[in-house]
Amino acid sequence: MEKVILKIKSLSKSFAHNGGQMHVLSNLNLDIYEGDFTVIMGSSGSGKSTLLYAISGMDKATAGEVIYNDKNINEMKENELTKLRYKDFGFVFQQMHLVSNLTLFENVCISGYLNKNNSKNDVKSYADVLFKRMDIDKVKTHLPSQVSGGEQQRCAIARALINKPAIIFADEPTGALNKKNSLEVLDIFTSLSNENQSIIMVTHDIRGAIRADRIIYLSDGNIIGEFRLPKYKKEDEKSREAQINTWLNSLEW
Ligand SMILES: Nc1ncnc2c1ncn2[C@@H]1O[C@H](COP(=O)(O)OP(=O)(O)OP(=O)(O)O)[C@@H](O)[C@H]1O
Ligand SMILES: [Mg+2]
Repeated sequence: MEKVILKIKSLSKSFAHNGGQMHVLSNLNLDIYEGDFTVIMGSSGSGKSTLLYAISGMDKATAGEVIYNDKNINEMKENELTKLRYKDFGFVFQQMHLVSNLTLFENVCISGYLNKNNSKNDVKSYADVLFKRMDIDKVKTHLPSQVSGGEQQRCAIARALINKPAIIFADEPTGALNKKNSLEVLDIFTSLSNENQSIIMVTHDIRGAIRADRIIYLSDGNIIGEFRLPKYKKEDEKSREAQINTWLNSLEW
């Protein structure tokens, strides 16, 4: 029996808009399993980012519960949420949001320093490990503007990993990258997933979906489909792609 790491119950999110309410998520229920590489797909505007933010403590839902470690994230106070975001969760976005006047290495370390339980030396030595793993060791003293988009994104992944998060949340992490850099990022996610890292990734990209253990499909803020896959293996890529495409075509994709 798989362990549920995030339990989402009757989650709703509305935005005030033009004097009315715009309902983006309505009464959504979802269990996320520990160690799963969960991918969220759906057309533009279907609520993928809104869902990701509401279940990661980035934004409050309007109603419902998001249970992590027996606590409802949706009821947490801002100081609890801040702690959760840097201690338990890691974030990767389409835009890397690196601090422009800090080196790549400093960008990663400052996130590690947020956790006061970490000594500075421990943070630096783990950052070194991550820089080697992300293959950005040789540009660690560069500023973000002095490296490629792929290197920036790999730095952002190192930053997301520095506090050994229980869950990585990623919103179209390959959205701004070319094919080669996208595949490198997906290979990193796959290798993390093989180490049992829980990952929740929003993507439009079938190449990203192929890596998933489970794909959730959103339409108008509702889950209208779910697809389970065995662990990704490179040699199965073609058949996975065909299966996923068939499934997506049966939805509104
Ligand atoms: N702050 C906001 N105020 C009002 N409406 C919003 C706000 N944020 C999102 N929305 C609306 O909620 C809907 C879902 O947005 P969301 O960003 O979650 O979509 P998405 O599935 O991530 O789309 P995309 O694939 O284009 O990123 C959209 O119609 C969007 O306009
Ligand atoms: Mg989005």
